[in-house]
Amino acid sequence: MSPDPELSPRRAARAEAERLATAALAQVPPPAPTRRQLREAAAASTVAVDAGAGAARGSWRRLPEVVAALPPHRRRRLAVVAGAAVAVVLGVAVAIGAAAGSARDIAASASVDDTVSAAVAGPPAVPDDGLPIPQVAAVAATATPCDDPAFTAALAQGDDTAAIAAAGGGSAFRTAVASGLAPCVSLSDPDREWLVVNKQRPLEPLDYYPGDLVMPSNVRALEQSALRAAPAEALTAMVRAAADAGAGEIGYLSAFRSYSTQQSTYAGRVAVGGVAEADRESARPGFSEHQTGKAVDIVPCSGSCGTLDDVAASRQGEWVREHAWEFGFITRYAEGREDYSGYEPEAWHLRYIGPELAQAYHDGGYTTLEEFFGLPAAPTY
Ligand code: DAL
Ligand code: ZN
Repeated sequence: MSPDPELSPRRAARAEAERLATAALAQVPPPAPTRRQLREAAAASTVAVDAGAGAARGSWRRLPEVVAALPPHRRRRLAVVAGAAVAVVLGVAVAIGAAAGSARDIAASASVDDTVSAAVAGPPAVPDDGLPIPQVAAVAATATPCDDPAFTAALAQGDDTAAIAAAGGGSAFRTAVASGLAPCVSLSDPDREWLVVNKQRPLEPLDYYPGDLVMPSNVRALEQSALRAAPAEALTAMVRAAADAGAGEIGYLSAFRSYSTQQSTYAGRVAVGGVAEADRESARPGFSEHQTGKAVDIVPCSGSCGTLDDVAASRQGEWVREHAWEFGFITRYAEGREDYSGYEPEAWHLRYIGPELAQAYHDGGYTTLEEFFGLPAAPTY
């Protein structure tokens, strides 16, 4: 076993891949509904409320609880059904309002949040004649966490943990961002835990250099490669927990890489395998998570340390797949997701997104950060 995993035959041959919602529902009033549509609207609203139970009168914060309680196929169905219900209920409101000469007022007052509220506010009351009474915006709701002073103050202070807590937790934060309800949150800020960098989202600036790099304590480092303070601390805790659990020692090879280091890394890959192959294994300079100080490539150690390619089949790798999220890390380039990430699976590459978001990622069954935040796939530059 080579003391330097970078020099293992396979890695050398391939050249190591490491080192060298959206806004509002359309508010175009639909045509006046038929009696059948009215009945279906009532039924569909009932489905939405059944799914949400007590969350029905909540604000945007409660939507994740409603949706998270459902299996994936029901989540998709609920989205469709709730959207249809909202459209029809709004249609009823507009039609009846128009008849009363007030259609313009209703349409003007139907905000995004009204729409969301209508989707979860429950079925309209059904009078004797069987026609539902439309109730639009029956519940006042917070339009966006960006209107919450606790949230904006935490953002301004650079306190990601407090901001996520103010938003109602990792899942609520994710939902608000992914649905377009949190425009004050930038997924491009390299100092944030929620940064997304990929082939379509370069670092800003391209030569970004993080400010608080430190060497993680009590972790075997095969290179003098640092991490930002929070991920460094998390790595230390994770490595200790793995050892305590009997999963063996986890060391690491590469963590922070500067723009110029990534230039060399990527160029080395190109020299060995050409551009197409290099692009499946290594990010171009300015496009690597390693440049943020929030990514680390782990290796399994037992006496000496194995290579990056040894991680997947090792007991350390198995433990990390199950527990890394508890420490704020995700496996960023998952098996079978090259279509989205643009990279071959990397069992060794862990990205720190903080424990709150990592828990939401894990609980939600996500396998790409892009899908987690509702971003498009980024398989190519
Ligand atoms: N190997 C990953 C994609 C990187 O170079 O950042
Ligand atoms: Zn990596």
